[in-house]
Amino acid sequence: MTVTGRQVNRARVAEIGAREEASYRDRTRKSASLFARARESMPLGVASSFQAYDPYPLFMTDARGSRITDADGNEYIDFDMAFGVLAAGHSHPLLAEALQHRVANGTCYTFPVEDGIALAEEIRARFGVGLVRFSNSGTEATMDAIRVARGYTGREKIIKFEGGYHGHHDDVLVSIQPPREAMGPVESPATVAASAGIPRSRIAETVIAPFNEPEMLEGILQAHAGEIAAILVEPVQFNIGVVPPKDGFLQRLRALADEHGIVLIFDEVKTGVVLAWGGAYEHYGVQPDLFCLAKSIGGGIPIGAFGGKREVMAAIETLEGTPAFSADARGSGIERSTIPGGATRVAHLGTFNGNPLSMTAGLVTLKQILTKDAYPRLHAMADRLTAESQAILDESGMPGYAINVGPKGCVMFTPGRVTNYRDFIGLDAELWGASFFYLANRGILLPPGPDDQWTLSVQHSDADIDRYIEVFGEFAAELTA
Ligand SMILES: Cc1ncc(COP(=O)(O)O)c(C=O)c1O
Repeated sequence: MTVTGRQVNRARVAEIGAREEASYRDRTRKSASLFARARESMPLGVASSFQAYDPYPLFMTDARGSRITDADGNEYIDFDMAFGVLAAGHSHPLLAEALQHRVANGTCYTFPVEDGIALAEEIRARFGVGLVRFSNSGTEATMDAIRVARGYTGREKIIKFEGGYHGHHDDVLVSIQPPREAMGPVESPATVAASAGIPRSRIAETVIAPFNEPEMLEGILQAHAGEIAAILVEPVQFNIGVVPPKDGFLQRLRALADEHGIVLIFDEVKTGVVLAWGGAYEHYGVQPDLFCLAKSIGGGIPIGAFGGKREVMAAIETLEGTPAFSADARGSGIERSTIPGGATRVAHLGTFNGNPLSMTAGLVTLKQILTKDAYPRLHAMADRLTAESQAILDESGMPGYAINVGPKGCVMFTPGRVTNYRDFIGLDAELWGASFFYLANRGILLPPGPDDQWTLSVQHSDADIDRYIEVFGEFAAELTA
C-alpha cells in the first residue's frame, strides 16, 4: 500500500465542501427544524455531545438491515452503524422476534435471569476467561474494570494511552485529543482534561503514555514503580480513525504488565465480537487480565460487560488473597489498613445490570447472529472495501490511505501513516468534511467525524460495498477534475 503525500487543489476541496454542505441543508430541512426545536430543550440539541456536528445532525426515524432513513425520508446505506454498535445490523429479524417476546413479558426484574448465565458462559468461552459481570455501557465497563484492578492490586494510578477513548468517567476522560500546546513531551505526555468539571485530584491518578512506543512506556513505568494498578488499552485505537498496534506491541504490554504486577485491561468495547469471534484477544493472540465489552454484544440494546481472570474478578467477592493484601506481591509497602474505609471487597452495582432485555439481546446476538461462521464474510467485504478505496486514492492522487482491521475501517486523510495520536493531528479535516457530505448526499452514511470509522454488519451486502466504491470514485474524480 502506498501513501502518496500528494497535494490536492485546496480551492477545489473548499468549493466541493461548500456545495455539498449546501445540498445537505437542502435535502434535510426537517432535520434542521427538529434541531432548532431540540436546542430549546437540550444543550447542543442532542442527548450525547458525540451526536452533535455542524451544521446540524440528521434526525433519524427508521432503520433495518444496512439501511437507515432520516426525518426527510432520505434513505442511506449505513456505514456508521451507531459508532460500531451494529455488527448484527439494524433490527436483525432474529433479535426483533426475541425482543418482542421479552418486551411482552417484563423488561426489568432486578432479580437474576437464566439468560444472564448463558450470556456470561458464551463470553467466557469467546474470551477464554473465568468470570464476567454485566453493566449498561462501555463507560461503566471500563469504570468498573479499573476499580477491580485498583482493589486487586491496592494501587491507585492507571496508565492510559494518548488519543484513546474509554468512555466518559473522570479517570479516562483525559488526553483524548489534547491540543498540541498542552500535550507535553512524547516520552512523558501530560495528562490533559478533555472536559471541564474533572477535579485535579482525578487527573493526578491517570498517567499518559504514547501508543505503540513500548520503550517510552517502560520509562514511564519505571518513573511510577509500584504505583500503577492497571494499563488500559484499546488494542486497535479506533477513536483516532484506525490505528492498529505495531507488531509485538500488545505482547510487550503483556510482558511489562506481568513484570510490574499490573493488571492489563483490554478495552474491547469496539473490537470485542467484531474483529473476530473472540475479539482482539483472538485476533492478536494476547490475553489481558481483564477486558471490557459493550456496543456490538447487545445487537443495538444498551449493555456493557467486563470480565477476566478468576483471581482478579474474584476481588468483587473478597480481597483476601489478592496482591492488595500482600505487601510482597505488591511491592509498594501499603498495609491492608490503608484501603479506604477498610473495605474487604470491590463494589460492583447497578439497577439495570443483567436486566432481562439486554441479557436476551446479548444472547441472541452472540449465539444466533455473530456466530463463528459470520466472520470470514465480514472480513472479505471489509478487505474489498479497503482495497478498492485504496485504488481510487492511488489513481486520484488524494493524500491518504485506506485501512481496516476486520470489519472496521476508514480512509485516513493524512500524508503519512498514523501510528499514534501525534501523527493523527495532521489529518486533513477539510478534505474529510467534503467527502462526508458528498457521500451522505448520495446515500452513503459514514460516522460524522474523522476520528471514527465504518463498521460492516452481517446485513451489509456486496451491492452496498459496490455503491460505496462507486460514490467514492465519483468524489475523487470531481476533486481531481
Ligand atoms: C473503546 C471505547 N471504550 C468505551 C466507550 C464508551 O462506551 P459507551 O459510549 O457505551 O459508554 C467507547 C465509546 O465509543 C469506546 O469506543
